[in-house]
Amino acid sequence: VRNGLTDALGRRISYLRISVTDRCDLRCRYCMAERMSFLPKDQVLTLEEIALIADLFISRGIRKIRLTGGEPLVRRDIVDLVRRIGRHLGDGLDELTLTTNGTRLAQHADALFDAGIRRINVSLDSRDPERFAHVTRNGDIRSVQEGLAAAKASGLAVKINMVALKGVNEDEILPMLYWCDQQGFDLTLIETMPLGETGEDRTDHYLPLTKIVDQLREHHELWPLAHRTGGPSRYHAVDGLKARLGLITPLTNNFCADCNRMRMTCEGKIFMCLGHEDHVDLKSAFREGGLDAVGPLIDRALRLKPAAHDFRIGAGAPAAVLRHMSVTGG
Ligand code: GTP
Ligand code: 5AD
Ligand code: SF4
Repeated sequence: VRNGLTDALGRRISYLRISVTDRCDLRCRYCMAERMSFLPKDQVLTLEEIALIADLFISRGIRKIRLTGGEPLVRRDIVDLVRRIGRHLGDGLDELTLTTNGTRLAQHADALFDAGIRRINVSLDSRDPERFAHVTRNGDIRSVQEGLAAAKASGLAVKINMVALKGVNEDEILPMLYWCDQQGFDLTLIETMPLGETGEDRTDHYLPLTKIVDQLREHHELWPLAHRTGGPSRYHAVDGLKARLGLITPLTNNFCADCNRMRMTCEGKIFMCLGHEDHVDLKSAFREGGLDAVGPLIDRALRLKPAAHDFRIGAGAPAAVLRHMSVTGG
């Protein structure tokens, strides 16, 4: 019998997000600082360690795993890990998936599909090459275009993640939605969250999605859908389009009451909430005592899960969480 993971507020935790690296080949302005120092290798879990810990989580009741980063596809031999965790699909694990920036998808799309991945989320904040280079601090959009084409060809369903940024991509939201529709992709818009010092003022770029939805409604009718993917996104049908529009609104309408998620960083720290510093460290326990030592720490982590995050932007806001998004993995 599986003993499920339930927190003190009775929330069932069935979705584990694993950050496999803090490194990335891009430097998105809302995610990282221009100059980042990355973790030394010995502080990062090996792929074998991640796989063993994932086995334990699945035996404890995790049914969905998402690999994140940093950028998961910059980790060497990542597809081996995907295959290894993918062995649980259909037997304990319902979904294994990935959030990626897409730059290396062209190399990996077929192998990911073969390993059991069916759906991926690709971050793309602008389709304009210059804007893309601006947001990512010098990224080349062509690699993402090639990656997306490869993903499509290999049969992977794609959801585009777009962080809505005032003065940056505000005017591109409707065109992005139309383009996603043509491509057969869904689109999710995300409100920027105050995580880590990035050298940018988030108040300048924060765009409440309530405002965007009002603007979209001048062009299209939107209906809330019951469709859920097990994550925070709330989906809408858009009249005349096949593409679903997802909204992730940590600031204007948080989704914490039915949160089903926990996160493991590439160092083996368990965070129960993106917006809190509390965590439990599995790595040294695992390296000293093996999986037997990890079980009780998972129970301790469950008790740390807060009722909600408290993200606010602008005057009077609490200090932002110190970790960068690239460390916790979104
Ligand atoms: P689906 O499986 O497609 O539902 O994916 P997802 O939305 O769970 O994952 P994705 O990696 O695409 O995340 C999209 C955005 O949602 C990222 O900016 C995440 O940081 C954010 N997000 C995911 N879970 C949480 C959460 O529990 N709290 C907050 N505040 N944001 C979250
Ligand atoms: N706020 C909101 N979303 C963010 N992402 C990265 N940093 C932030 C932030 N500060 C998004 C990325 C990616 C997802 C995992 O998280 O664009 O789509
Ligand atoms: Fe890299 Fe994603 Fe962060 Fe951009 S948002 S720097 S692609 S980890």
